[in-house]
Amino acid sequence: MERWYDKLLPLSDAGELSPRERLRQLEGPLLFWYGENARELPWRQSPEPYRVWISEIMLQQTRVEAVKPYFERFMRELPAVRDLAEAGDDRLMKLWEGLGYYSRARNLKKAAIIACENYGGDLPGDYGALLKLPGIGSYTAGAIASIAFGLAEPAVDGNVLRVLSRVTASREDIQKQAVKREFENLVRSVMPKDRAGDYNQALIEVGALVCVPNGGPKCGECPMATLCLARERGLTGEIPVKAPKKARRIEERTVFLVEADGKVAIRKREGKGLLASLYELPNREGQMSVSQALESLGIPEAFLLEAEELPEAKHIFSHVEWHMRGLRLRLRDLPPWQKGEHLPFFVDKEELAEGYPLPNAFSAYRKLV
Ligand code: ADE
Repeated sequence: MERWYDKLLPLSDAGELSPRERLRQLEGPLLFWYGENARELPWRQSPEPYRVWISEIMLQQTRVEAVKPYFERFMRELPAVRDLAEAGDDRLMKLWEGLGYYSRARNLKKAAIIACENYGGDLPGDYGALLKLPGIGSYTAGAIASIAFGLAEPAVDGNVLRVLSRVTASREDIQKQAVKREFENLVRSVMPKDRAGDYNQALIEVGALVCVPNGGPKCGECPMATLCLARERGLTGEIPVKAPKKARRIEERTVFLVEADGKVAIRKREGKGLLASLYELPNREGQMSVSQALESLGIPEAFLLEAEELPEAKHIFSHVEWHMRGLRLRLRDLPPWQKGEHLPFFVDKEELAEGYPLPNAFSAYRKLV
């Protein structure tokens, strides 16, 4: 089927273009396509700086469909920068519970406090000032600057890098910072000054809907098809180039459901490292027998009513995989545990859902509480 953009430029001519000229020429078809195909997303309705910021942070490492309900709830509960700056840590973690990568939420609060102190409770409308805020890198600074403030700054994330490296048939490793910088400079030099936000979002959108990873990009639907060098050369399967990642470390863990008197034991994690300051079901590295578990948890054997093996579960973090087995320990009574900030304690089972942010890593066992 012939498409409206097939008339734009014959492929043989497109082959002669420099990357910059190639990007210049795709602006028209790309923006036209975006006008017709942009998804209606909650954060696009009124692109105020705060909304753009929160959505872009949530969208890092999390799918659009998963983000939508989190975004709506976050906006209802913390509708302005100042509400975020003043939110209690547990409440904030509860709003983030399930999204993962919790340092994103901690940085949001730090940045909100700075925005209140230095910018009167707004985000600064300046790319350099945005970049200085915790958790805001060049992609997010560019997204906020362009979408919320209309500034001609690039927003180049992994998806946009895939699109750009295919269009220009670049075989550079897109995980290298220097390669990202080059593409950012390229985009900055060609992007339209009057539609910077739409331009960036169009690149994001085409990456999400058309120029998809792996499997096959849908070149037949792509507004940039006639300008795309990877398509012309049959290289969409090889580009983008990414150096293989280091394998994740595998950690065996035993997770305990310690239950007594209608309650379940949880613990607050230390303030540093993986899942810092979140709550967890007590757990230990390695595989443990029942008597080892009781000893390690400080539970006298006489308290044990019943022990039950629970199914295995796996959780993948960015650098580690937890391979877990579970052990339910039903006790006659609450054990004589000492109290302390990071020591385990018992909560009513109903309370667990309301007050204590428990990361997804434990969801297989939390369901069994
Ligand atoms: N992924 C990252 N940013 C996005 C945005 N603004 N809209 C849709 N998907 C995105």
